Amino acid sequence: MSEIFQIAVDGPSGAGKSTIAKAIARKLDIDYIDTGAMYRALGYKMLQLGITEEEPDKVAKLLAETEIDFSKGDIILDGSVINDLIRTPEISMKASACSALGIVRKHLVKVQQEMGAKKSVIMDGRDIGTDVFPNAKYKFFITATAEERANRRYKELCEKGENVSYEETLESIIQRDYNDSHREVSPLRKADDAEEVDTTNMTIDEVVKYICDKIK
Ligand code: DC
Repeated sequence: MSEIFQIAVDGPSGAGKSTIAKAIARKLDIDYIDTGAMYRALGYKMLQLGITEEEPDKVAKLLAETEIDFSKGDIILDGSVINDLIRTPEISMKASACSALGIVRKHLVKVQQEMGAKKSVIMDGRDIGTDVFPNAKYKFFITATAEERANRRYKELCEKGENVSYEETLESIIQRDYNDSHREVSPLRKADDAEEVDTTNMTIDEVVKYICDKIK
């Protein structure tokens, strides 16, 4: 495939979007862009500097002074790799909170559009098929029940040695679903022309195969 094209992968937290998108990127030999990691990186920096969502002037200044990029699968914030630092329950909530701010979305959407304009990409997030690339050639909306998503996230956090309970994980998933789909700016919703894939009873390999078959 020589033309430049975008694959949009949206859906709620913990549906497996990033694992699926990464595997598809490898198979198709295109770049994978994890837009959630960009909101997490910004949330991480806001926490470090003690900036809250109620301080729009400080957030605007911060955006102007912040560089978020990807290199060889790593997420880079102002020149430092921050992969593991942004995968904590605290940063998940902060990312969800700061992603509700219009100035934050406007800024990061522009950066994402620039990233996907130069080369073929698969991008995962909440608004890729609706706002970032409304004309993407392929659009998928990946879902699973909240319980199944909490199960998956809980296992992942336990493997990393995080001290959390299943109940807390489920509560956090439900809270983020609510935040992400009720915010005023670009709430999470399926694009009309996206295909919904319910992965509750599917393995990652099955989902990857299903999507790759659609793309070929
Ligand atoms: O995909 P994730 O869990 O890493 O995303 C972290 C938060 O960022 C999530 O709660 C919603 C927000 N987000 C968003 O609003 N838009 C995106 N394109 C990606 C993530």
